[in-house]
Amino acid sequence: MSTFEFVVGVVYLAAATLFVVGLHLMRAPSTARRGNLISAGGMAVAVITTIVFAAISSGGTWIGWGVLLVGVSVGAVFGIVQARTVKMTAIPQLVSIFNAVGGGAAAAVAFASFVADTDSSALSLTVSIPIVLDVLIGSVTFAGSLIAAGKLQGIISGKPLTFPGARILNVLAALVAVGAGIWALFGPPNLTLLLVVLIASLVFGLLMVLPIGGADAPVIVSLLNAFTGLAVAMAGFAINNQALIIAGALVGAAGTILTLQMAKAMNRSVGAIVLGGFGTADSSGTAAGSPAEDLTNIRQLTADDVAIQLAYAQHVLIVPGYGLAAAQAQHEVAELAKLLISHGVDVKYAIHPVAGRMPGHMNVLLAEANVPYEQMLQLDDANAAFDNCDVALVVGANDVCNPDARTPGNAVSGMPILNADHAKSVVVIKRSMRPGYAGISNPLFTDPKTGMFFADAKKGLADITTAVKEYVTA
Ligand code: TAP
Repeated sequence: MSTFEFVVGVVYLAAATLFVVGLHLMRAPSTARRGNLISAGGMAVAVITTIVFAAISSGGTWIGWGVLLVGVSVGAVFGIVQARTVKMTAIPQLVSIFNAVGGGAAAAVAFASFVADTDSSALSLTVSIPIVLDVLIGSVTFAGSLIAAGKLQGIISGKPLTFPGARILNVLAALVAVGAGIWALFGPPNLTLLLVVLIASLVFGLLMVLPIGGADAPVIVSLLNAFTGLAVAMAGFAINNQALIIAGALVGAAGTILTLQMAKAMNRSVGAIVLGGFGTADSSGTAAGSPAEDLTNIRQLTADDVAIQLAYAQHVLIVPGYGLAAAQAQHEVAELAKLLISHGVDVKYAIHPVAGRMPGHMNVLLAEANVPYEQMLQLDDANAAFDNCDVALVVGANDVCNPDARTPGNAVSGMPILNADHAKSVVVIKRSMRPGYAGISNPLFTDPKTGMFFADAKKGLADITTAVKEYVTA
């Protein structure tokens, strides 16, 4: 190893250290922004080092440098514009697109390195195994992530899309991809075999994600994110680049942990999600309607009724859910909370880890409305606070506070929930009696201490704030 290669290795190690430190800081909302910047710094160091290394060690052709320049410019402009303009609710599909390009790029790197080696009589297994795995995992990720992004964006139907024989075709595609991959490992480099791996893996990726319901797509996005990391690490082995190996391993491990945590918080197994199940009908698609269905045992409230309860309460816990995000009502809820706090009421938010449709959905939304982190109680702290709470104000949340989770035999059994029913009284803001993501009814809504305020979250909260103002200034 030359001194120059040694220095490049040390710089890559420093970049990898920045990734680790950044990832560590992303564990808490208050340090996440700094963590993001530090990781981005690490990535910039790695990219610049790679370019300098390529320029000095191989020189490259003018065409090669031109392609690199165009690629970097297009990628950077797309990334910056998207990250600056994306709506909070559209982040899962953006992440999915990033996974697609990450997995696709990793597969392309492996493919190119294979093509460059086709002259050699045989590749050593330490090179050919990562190449084949990279093409396989990268192609699955590319195809699967594009479908997931399409479902989340509504371009492809959120319903499970399947056809007779789809499962058999999927198993067949997997067998062909793995079989051709194993064959490609032995003998001289064979481009046709690698092409078969690529096409079969693309088909497998498509068929794996098409049958998954739109509401389950975030978990699949997280799983595909872990796959992207694996593909990138394999690309690192294929072209002997330590920064790629370390960054890929970190993304793979973090993505796997997140996938398992999301599945656990939904009380489902990753296998059950991949094989399809409940949660295929996303309530976001339903238009605001009248509080139809059975209204027996329902106590209906007006904005005035809710305002009186809140204005005279000492402790209020707000339970935000998917409906708050769908209505984009984060600023209205923050304004109501601020008003109550200025009136001497103790107001906190009870945050469930899978409230909404993506990890940390509620934290991100509330942070956007400048809600201080100290006011956001996570599951255990929130549940301890409900026993001493005068009013639990449930805004567009349903499954995450369904007491039926405590009894076996239903879609949310065993899911950890927010104990809103332990509060002295409960107010629920939603548009109707329609169920949430899990598609089941919620006995909290018929509990005698619960009052239902049927309204769109944004408008309902604004009306309550107007009414509270009359009481606190009167
Ligand atoms: P949900 O159980 O889905 O309930 C949301 C409620 O919001 C619905 O009942 C709906 O009732 C109401 N709503 C919709 N739009 C509204 C609007 N504009 N104004 C007022 N209300 C509105 O939500 P949740 O309690 O947050 O639970 C999340 C669910 O998603 C869980 O089952 C979880 O497992 C699942 N999930 C979460 C994730 C992550 S990582 N967060 C990923 C995949 C799945 P109306 O139609 O009557 O208004």
